[in-house]
Amino acid sequence: MKAQHHLIFFIIILTSAILLFFSSELLLPDTLKKLVFRSPQIDTIGHFIGFFILTWVIASLLKMSLMVTFFTLSLYAALSELGQYYLGFRNGELSDFFADIAGITLYLLLKFSYLKYKIFILKKIILTKQAAKVKPINTIIVGQGAMGLLWYHHIQQVIASDRQYRNNQLHLLASNKAPSLEGKVSTEPYYFTDLQGVSQQNSVHYAQINTIQSADVVLLFVKSFQVSAALDSIAARLKPSAAIILAHNGMGTLTELPASITAKHNIYALLTTHGCLRTSPLTITHTGTGSTDIGLLSGVKDVGQQQSIIALLSASLPPANYHQDIKQKQWLKLAINCVINPLTALNDIENGQITHKQYTQLIQALLKEVVAVAAAEGVNLIPCELTQTVVNVAQATASNSSSMRCDVHAKRQTEIDYINGYIAKLGIQHNIATPENDKLWKKVKNLA
Ligand code: PAF
Repeated sequence: MKAQHHLIFFIIILTSAILLFFSSELLLPDTLKKLVFRSPQIDTIGHFIGFFILTWVIASLLKMSLMVTFFTLSLYAALSELGQYYLGFRNGELSDFFADIAGITLYLLLKFSYLKYKIFILKKIILTKQAAKVKPINTIIVGQGAMGLLWYHHIQQVIASDRQYRNNQLHLLASNKAPSLEGKVSTEPYYFTDLQGVSQQNSVHYAQINTIQSADVVLLFVKSFQVSAALDSIAARLKPSAAIILAHNGMGTLTELPASITAKHNIYALLTTHGCLRTSPLTITHTGTGSTDIGLLSGVKDVGQQQSIIALLSASLPPANYHQDIKQKQWLKLAINCVINPLTALNDIENGQITHKQYTQLIQALLKEVVAVAAAEGVNLIPCELTQTVVNVAQATASNSSSMRCDVHAKRQTEIDYINGYIAKLGIQHNIATPENDKLWKKVKNLA
């Protein structure tokens, strides 16, 4: 089809040129004829037009790249002028050579602009199709802690910069800001410093009653002991199709939720290894890059919902992966927290220091209990691999203060009930002895 168009176009140009040439003999006034056909420039003009058409034919037939076409035809033009220079009966002219180059260049420039234009139009079509495919999501982030603000910032950046997400909405539900009725959205500046140390100021948009009602995704970045209350305060307003994503350390919050919530909503777990520090209420620094895992904890498998959640998360803070078996990942994270969090909090040390010899025996004992309880829950953890994973995380975050150590320093409630406490409680249920986890649970509780 394309070749046919080229051929027709080429025949039209050629026929018009021939007709113009012969008819000009009859139609053009004498003065113009003299000016055009007898002028010494006619040869140069002929070279220019001839090489324009020649480039067109060669480019269409041989389909070489524009660069190769240019050099091949320029070489041909140079050789033919040189040949004529050495042949007695013809004249090799530098001006003809320049006219050839001008003809070649003009055609190739036109072709180049046409190709660029085509790519531009194609991109536009693809983007419009993609935008039509991605259903906009209204997201509410619950919790104004470091992680809540980190995700708020990255999702907001995607909405602002990516056409695909420009119809998405994002609001922050902070515990110190009751959602207002419809009206002017309440905003406040927040400060974000990225991994390269570059800081910027943006605005948080606080949730209103109507934004909660229209939420498709509710991301809970609150402590494990705050999950129930946080959901309780908004559950009545949420539409049944709203997905609830729990993103906290520890386990056991799902069983605390009332059936009115678990029966109505799909509940997901989100685990992230990004490091983030909050230095004042709305000032955060992204301290370490990581990855994010998400999977369904309870509810009905909804592929469309999974895809739009994972698309938004991975566009915002990649990599983010969906897992059919998130429970396995949760247990792995729980095992890490069972060791690093209480040991760093009780001994007031940084994460890296738990790799010192003095803690080796205790770590083995703690993990042995975790492995036994996990097995009773249908999760298979391999002890030596688990020990290595804990050591790796401690080394990778060596100079960090664990969240529990920070909570103890700030005299805040810790998540110990959902970490070592969770193991101890499950141990009782399954009749498995968990003395070491039990001891740490009580010791950390006594710190408060
Ligand atoms: O709770 C924390 O601080 C983190 O989950 C971890 C992995 C222990 C690293 O600091």
